[in-house]
Amino acid sequence: MIFGRIKPLDAIMATAEKRSLHRTLGAFQLTMLGIGAVIGTGIFVLTSEAAQKAGPGMLLSFVVAGFICAVAALCYSELASMVPVSGSAYTYSYAVVGELLAWMVGWALILEYAVGASAVAVGWSNHAVGLLNGIADYYGIGRFPSAISNADAFMAHMYLTFGAAPSDDLAKAIATGGWVNVPAIIVVAFVTWLLVIGTTESARVNAILVAVKIAALTAFIALTIPVLKTANFNPFMPTGFGNPLSSSGLGVLGAAASIFFAYVGFDAVSTAAEETKNPQRNVPIGLIGSLGICTIFYLLVASGAIGAIGAQPVMSAAGEVLSPGTPQIAGRCAAIVAGGGLEPLVCSKEALVHVLEVINWPFVGRLVGLAAVVALPSVVLMMMFGQTRVFFTMARDGLLPEKLASVHPKFRTPHVVTIVTGVAAAFAAAILPVGRLADYSNAGTLFAFLMVAVSVMVLRRTDPGRKRPFRTPLVWVIAPLAVVGSFVLYLSLPLTAKLVLPGWGAIGLVIYFLYSRSRSHVGRGIIEVNEDEAYEGTEPPVPGTH
Ligand code: ALA
Repeated sequence: MIFGRIKPLDAIMATAEKRSLHRTLGAFQLTMLGIGAVIGTGIFVLTSEAAQKAGPGMLLSFVVAGFICAVAALCYSELASMVPVSGSAYTYSYAVVGELLAWMVGWALILEYAVGASAVAVGWSNHAVGLLNGIADYYGIGRFPSAISNADAFMAHMYLTFGAAPSDDLAKAIATGGWVNVPAIIVVAFVTWLLVIGTTESARVNAILVAVKIAALTAFIALTIPVLKTANFNPFMPTGFGNPLSSSGLGVLGAAASIFFAYVGFDAVSTAAEETKNPQRNVPIGLIGSLGICTIFYLLVASGAIGAIGAQPVMSAAGEVLSPGTPQIAGRCAAIVAGGGLEPLVCSKEALVHVLEVINWPFVGRLVGLAAVVALPSVVLMMMFGQTRVFFTMARDGLLPEKLASVHPKFRTPHVVTIVTGVAAAFAAAILPVGRLADYSNAGTLFAFLMVAVSVMVLRRTDPGRKRPFRTPLVWVIAPLAVVGSFVLYLSLPLTAKLVLPGWGAIGLVIYFLYSRSRSHVGRGIIEVNEDEAYEGTEPPVPGTH
């Protein structure tokens, strides 16, 4: 029977018990952990993409995306507190809805984590290049070569190769854009190296980086809100509310589907559930607290950006709203700047820095850029760490080659999965624009959220008596809201991102049926094999917790 392979919850729990990590984390540390993993490329970079999709209406998009994350977070917490082991949504699904769907969730989590890491790396690259160019201009020396600072020209070529109509915008993108994003490759390589040698961020480093990010956003808010012009909020929804059934990905819902990325990462809090004192109280405070604080900051930052310099979408020569992340909009933006126009918010690769420059705070703008350069590598690290844990757990279950789960003799880290993840993330970051990567990552994350919410409901029915250190409140309202919300956001993604999930899923299914199914430990009746191997007990803690 195809859906019949379920990994018994008790076997999973036995593994967890062997690990016996100390419960040391309180509500405050969990909240810091959440904020550390969440604030990143989303707010620093994708604000401009959201503006292109929804104009000032992106304020509503932040609220919609934040709400859906909050209900999903409550579902995550229940499973995280019941099944406190590595592998996140993959492990939960294995115990509840069976191996096939768990495999699909694990496969989708590759999009969430590895592709998400690529997106953050590209956001980091934008700021690093901006900072280097700022310094170069100051000293009157050469700027960072544009050919290796992004992949806009490469994408434009791809578009033309695959049949896009030649246009001035594409020609401009080829003339001014780059071919490969070298800084993004460098940051992924750096983080991969840190993970291989077993560096895991300490709670203190995390706290410092959270303070740096909060200081940067606070400075931005303090400088932009006073110069806010209410006229800049009109028209409020130039592209409408959005239609999940259309392929454009525009409107408030379309922007919500993209800006959702700005909230991703809070599952780091769930992952740390087994190290939390009184998880019933502290996990939800950590999750909802970090999401709540981020939402307030995001709304203030977005209001400041819109109010200070306006956020209306850029149109093509034919008067259509251009899709963010396409070479067409890159070319159009280059043409606006070349024509002597002020670069609109929606064109900027470093949205917040750009706003501060326009309102005549260039030095503070550069400091905000510096804050991003300093703090974003830790977000890349969180995502890559999440990915290695999922891969590792899948390999340990026999669904991926067991070689992937091997542990480095000296560093005691799963170096093979880490390097595989690093190479894949670097490759994607080298050639794809940040908005695309974020949208692909979101597609995978939304699928995982949906499955987690379904699993919570299934488990309440099939195993009502099991101890739940944290219970989702109003589960029959919250979990269905998480399911519907995730599905609507998924449908609101642009067509290509919507297609990535089934396309990626189809590849996953082929691998499952050709390779994994026959090798699965559960399928072969070896439920607990490897569970207590070397990595057990030496597994590095979740970054930012110790
Ligand atoms: N939420 C994280 C970010 O925006 C992934 O970078």
